[in-house]
Amino acid sequence: MSDQPASSRRPARGGDDVHVPFIVASLLLGTFGGFTLAVSLPIEVLAGSLDRSWVAHAQVHGHLQAVGFAGLFVLGMGLRLAPHFARNEFAFQGLVRPSFILVVAGLLARALGQPLAEYPPFAVLLVAGAAAELIGALGFFTIFTATLGPGVRGLQPPALLLWFATFWFAVQAAFGAWWLITLAADGETILSAAENHALINMQVFGMVLSAILGVGMRTFPTFFGMPAPKQGAAVTGALLLATGVAAWTVGTVIDQPPLENGGIALLGVTILGAVVIFGAGGWRHRMAPASRNFVWALRPVLLWLGFVGLTLLLAGIRGLASGDAPSATGLDAIRHMFTVGVITLAIVAMAQLMLPEFASERIAHPPSQWRGPAFGAALSLAALLRGALPWADIGDGTEYYRMMAVAGTIALLAVAAFAFLFLRARRRHVAYVANLSALRSRGASLTMSEPRSG
Ligand code: HEM
Repeated sequence: MSDQPASSRRPARGGDDVHVPFIVASLLLGTFGGFTLAVSLPIEVLAGSLDRSWVAHAQVHGHLQAVGFAGLFVLGMGLRLAPHFARNEFAFQGLVRPSFILVVAGLLARALGQPLAEYPPFAVLLVAGAAAELIGALGFFTIFTATLGPGVRGLQPPALLLWFATFWFAVQAAFGAWWLITLAADGETILSAAENHALINMQVFGMVLSAILGVGMRTFPTFFGMPAPKQGAAVTGALLLATGVAAWTVGTVIDQPPLENGGIALLGVTILGAVVIFGAGGWRHRMAPASRNFVWALRPVLLWLGFVGLTLLLAGIRGLASGDAPSATGLDAIRHMFTVGVITLAIVAMAQLMLPEFASERIAHPPSQWRGPAFGAALSLAALLRGALPWADIGDGTEYYRMMAVAGTIALLAVAAFAFLFLRARRRHVAYVANLSALRSRGASLTMSEPRSG
């Protein structure tokens, strides 16, 4: 690392393509892993096979989706953005590739090993997978801590939130390794409900929500002309978010419903606060005409986020009043409003607004204006069927799983379509940049410019 003062350092440009393997791996694990299981799991129930293997596969689906699809995506975007968030150099670049390989190998090993962990070779695979994910997560934590350092010490909200995301990634990997190694040693295939929910809280609300809010805080003022959030309020929000997740997680593990419900309520309030901040600009978008249609994908993200905040707050208050632990099915429904309506839709929309691949596409082959509304409508329908209707207790057992199968199919098709668009845009971007540098090296007077996001 350089010893220049932070203020005079320029963000490194060596990380311009750093996101690509992360996004490819995220989309492969999502399309062929997590979202395929999202379709097959409810179909298996409708076909009458709800057994221990189903539960193990449900846990594999959750892990592949939360850490594989969403986690790898936010890590890739985070690595692009971290030097800019902290006005610092990209630290420990040499750790990126080994950490990435370890996390991907760990995800695959867990997915293969857990359902069959009663057999020793698969138990070994499960242990190796959990250990690889932990070492990889610690690698990323080191990279982000060193890169984001000046921003975190200066209490810059986007840097702080992105750092919290990698903190939760490392903490869940450490607990995951401990609990999965114990599971494998016992020849079991299913984590206890408390351990499983604790890991999911840290992954989904600790890691992914922190990253989404950090990126949103930095990009929304540019895209929508919203006033930049006040530093004090945003830092307080980041700390409350971490406190809410920690209280909920600890309360779940030590079986203390008041702590669990308090954490859930605090998380709900914090999310509602974030929605107010993000909605404050009135959404006067400043985006280029070719990007404006993505407003119709981002508005539903904010609506779903508001609904998730409200339902978490209600669940927490109800639990505090009754003294009972929160309902597992209620939380599963809220979690899916969040993972489908917020995480998946935000990934699809923000990637198309921010990645250089799509910026090149807008210059060379402007996309249809229907793309943003189509993704917004499809994934909102999936979030409605998988999260909102079950939360409202609409549909009996069979209808519930039928709605889930339809939701899974819609979400799988949407993510597969996005994967196709990304790979096509990547091919065009590489050709565009090659043409640009050929023109430059011939000394031609350039009328083409580097693609810019938004
Ligand atoms: C519409 C698409 C989806 C469908 C149909 C679906 C379906 C399911 C099903 C059937 C379960 C098992 C529920 C149970 O144990 O009773 C589940 C659990 C879960 N899902 Fe999804 N899912 C979808 C999308 C997602 C996404 C996008 C994510 C994350 C980014 C996600 C994360 C989880 C998690 C963390 C669990 C808990 C797993 C566990 O119990 O260990 N899901 N999902």
